[in-house]
Amino acid sequence: MTTSSPFRDSSPSQERDREGEGQIDAAAHPALAALPAALRGPRPVIVVVGLGYVGLPLCVALAESGARVHGLDVDPGLCAALDAGRSHVGDVPDAALVAALEAGFAPTTDHAVIADGDAVIICVPTPLRKTKDPDISYIVAAGQAVAAHARPGQLVVLESTTYPGTTEDLLVPMLLAKGLRPGLEVAVAFSPERVDPGNALFGLRNTPKVVGGCTPSCAESAAALYGRVCETVHPVRSPAAAETVKLLENTFRMVNIGLVNEFALVCHKLGLNVWEIIEAASTKPFGFMPFRPGPGLGGHCIPVDPHYLAWKLRSLNFTTRFVELADAVNSAMPLHVVDVLTEALNHAKKAVNGAEVLALGVAYKANISDVRESPALEVLELLDHKGAQLRYCDPHVPTVRLATGPLQAEALSPALLASADVVLVLTDHAAFDWDEVVDHARCVVDARNATAGALSRQPAAAAKVWLIGGGARLG
Ligand SMILES: NC(=O)c1ccc[n+]([C@@H]2O[C@H](COP(=O)([O-])OP(=O)(O)OC[C@H]3O[C@@H](n4cnc5c(N)ncnc54)[C@H](O)[C@@H]3O)[C@@H](O)[C@H]2O)c1
Repeated sequence: MTTSSPFRDSSPSQERDREGEGQIDAAAHPALAALPAALRGPRPVIVVVGLGYVGLPLCVALAESGARVHGLDVDPGLCAALDAGRSHVGDVPDAALVAALEAGFAPTTDHAVIADGDAVIICVPTPLRKTKDPDISYIVAAGQAVAAHARPGQLVVLESTTYPGTTEDLLVPMLLAKGLRPGLEVAVAFSPERVDPGNALFGLRNTPKVVGGCTPSCAESAAALYGRVCETVHPVRSPAAAETVKLLENTFRMVNIGLVNEFALVCHKLGLNVWEIIEAASTKPFGFMPFRPGPGLGGHCIPVDPHYLAWKLRSLNFTTRFVELADAVNSAMPLHVVDVLTEALNHAKKAVNGAEVLALGVAYKANISDVRESPALEVLELLDHKGAQLRYCDPHVPTVRLATGPLQAEALSPALLASADVVLVLTDHAAFDWDEVVDHARCVVDARNATAGALSRQPAAAAKVWLIGGGARLG
């Protein structure tokens, strides 16, 4: 494990002020002084609070490293399924879960396990309210449960994505109320989770882990913990800095996706193909990084996290204009997809009302089963509202619930493709056979440029494909 210094660019006076950091305070509780060594040791006890997309892979990795892991969740059904070796997270195969259970991972709903942990890691949800304000009720509930059972000599880490200041302004006061002071009785840190579901190249082990401790000794304990499962730990000066790192990363993606979605609209107006333009711009070996347009933003992070930043800054009388603008552009994309589909139907002298629309893909991105914040669902809701007859195929998502009721996935077949007035590509799953789609569909609206390869083999079929960002047609 490598650990870089957060203080390498400090001025000499800052270096002097921080003299002695990395050392445990002389007044610290003896159990705290022993904590980094225990966390590096062969069999520390770790409690992970929240067994979702973030918490479960972490439990598995920690158990693999030799730690005993209590996985604490408020959902008894989830704990029972995990205990039986059934994983609900795509990146954790059942076999890996079973191995972790054998190695010492124990799912539980019993909050008393918190007292056993050398470290407690909080991975609970941080959604938005309908008003797009943060809903921190899960962090409050988990923080209160942790504080109720915490004891001297423990490390408490928050991993949930949240606004800058949450760890020190919300979590630390709960611990202080129990007489547990960061750096003296307990270690407290924030460390953002950077998992990218479905990414085969980068996982927990080879994605550097950023940690921000309340004191240098808190950071040292957090680095010792994550050094068990991550090749590189990158400390920053404070929990708020670590909280802001995550928000910069996700705001960067949100803004760049907003920019490229705006280019898709620009190209629609200009009659140009935005995909060709992105591909050509990507040949520049420096100063350009490709992002791709689509039906809108999806997933649990990118559409949500920047609003935590915007909310915090509103309280400081500052408007995060890039977040607001990117949100406006990205939020309008589902409607643009419906406009293009309406145009395609109009071209065939048909109305949306009563049209048979077959959607391909409802997950928010390719090759995963996650439909949280999926723009595909918003497109389907808009079409449902206009009276379209909806069917869908998604090998990863067997059922979805729309406002008017549930829809069941169907198997993709030439007959199904041929039966639809429009085949609407919303997610470019690798399991779809795009040659078959282009071959059998009567009309395709493609929001992902998924049909590009098939069209290069069957150029004549381009006449029936309406591409988002492909340039408006005059009919
Ligand atoms: N999913 C991702 O790809 C991803 C990536 C990076 C960061 N994050 C962030 O990590 C955090 C967790 O996200 P997730 O995707 O794992 O959420 P999730 O919804 O998949 O899982 C959260 C789990 O926490 C449990 N829970 C809720 N309240 C609890 C409590 N008081 N005590 C114990 N368990 C409780 C829920 O039952 C659920 O099982 C969020 O802040 C999210 O923004 C997620």
